[in-house]
Amino acid sequence: MRIDIISIFPEYFDVLDVSLLGKARQSGLIDMNVHNLRDFTHDRHRTVDDTPYGGGAGMVMKPEPWGEALDSVLGSEPTAVSEDSPLVIFPSPAGDVFNQAMARELSQEKSLVFGCGRYEGIDQRVFDHTATRARVRLVSLGDYVLNGGEVAVLAMIEAIGRLIPGMVGNPDSLVEESHEDGLLEYPSYTKPQTWRDLEVPAVLRSGNHGAVDAWRREQQIERTRRVRPDLLGEA
Ligand code: ADE
Repeated sequence: MRIDIISIFPEYFDVLDVSLLGKARQSGLIDMNVHNLRDFTHDRHRTVDDTPYGGGAGMVMKPEPWGEALDSVLGSEPTAVSEDSPLVIFPSPAGDVFNQAMARELSQEKSLVFGCGRYEGIDQRVFDHTATRARVRLVSLGDYVLNGGEVAVLAMIEAIGRLIPGMVGNPDSLVEESHEDGLLEYPSYTKPQTWRDLEVPAVLRSGNHGAVDAWRREQQIERTRRVRPDLLGEA
């Protein structure tokens, strides 16, 4: 998968060199390219923002640097938008809420472009113009406000990246986790059998696989009912 990220803080993405994602980059499974939005400005101060039309607090990101940065990633030739067009994601608290199903869907894409906004947002015409040559999605990490899209993009790339075939050593470990079947994960235990007077549940030591599966399922349902009852209807 090719991933392009446009941001005024490219150094945020240095952490993508560590851990599993770092290995995926080295092995070529993920081809990651981080672009500094300020490289597409032409003034001495490398300005990316200006005051909002209509007044109001804060600054808005100017369209020109975004236009040039997106031209350099998408190409500047006009192309009809189809299912095969590149997908450009702008993290935004006003977007569709990111979840495991969206991560799985996005992990099937050949190429993803992330545009990280800051300040009070990006001039609306950037979204409108990008939608004439690419598929565009606004995606929110959740119902809270971050200072910019960078942290949201890091979280999305980690969730998407680990679903790319070949990324996780044992693909079975992906199937039994929280949210994959719409429920939260069951509790896990390892050795020793007793730790600080706390015992591993007997059923897990019984060797009875049917009983283990049934216990884990019950635990998933009980935990989901307690913590996230909103998920039970969907599951
Ligand atoms: N930018 C600011 N807040 C955000 C959020 N909740 N999700 C995604 N991007 C954001």
